Amino acid sequence: MAASYALVWIDDTTLFIDLIGLMLLQVLSLLPPYEGKSVLELGAGIGRFTGELAQKAGELIALDFIDSVIKKNKSVNGHYKNVKFMCADVTSPDLNITDGSIDLIFSNWLLMYLSDKEVELLVERMVWLDQSWRIHFLPRILLPPIW
Ligand SMILES: C[S@@+](CC[C@H](N)C(=O)[O-])C[C@H]1O[C@@H](n2cnc3c(N)ncnc32)[C@H](O)[C@@H]1O
Repeated sequence: MAASYALVWIDDTTLFIDLIGLMLLQVLSLLPPYEGKSVLELGAGIGRFTGELAQKAGELIALDFIDSVIKKNKSVNGHYKNVKFMCADVTSPDLNITDGSIDLIFSNWLLMYLSDKEVELLVERMVWLDQSWRIHFLPRILLPPIW
């Protein structure tokens, strides 16, 4: 996993802080329990979260619309046999995901690439979600004060 480090000096002590790792842990800590559940990861990118999600999910679909990106994700996380890698546009009305088949939709740093209208339509089309689960949009994550 690519890491971005910060150097912090506290009382003559130098600390290396893994900023990306911190952010990742912070986001994952906000998720409801998803052990054994079906998870859909939208805008999965090169897989910073895919491997972490795969370790607990029953099944995971990692979706991104850039072919080279989803291939990179697969090269890193393809050993998780519960992960299906899908190259598709989240704004497409023809996404091949069965209605009611998903327990949790996870997405980090995707919505900012979509227009307000696209987000609205995406939420309307989230019928893939088992209705006992809720859609929960988090505000921007809390970054450490050194960010
Ligand atoms: C900033 S990256 C975040 C990647 C990953 N979620 C993370 O937190 O590391 C945004 C990703 O969303 C993908 N993306 C943007 N618009 C998309 C769309 N309409 N459909 C699918 N993927 C999209 C991009 O290709 C990119 O990989």
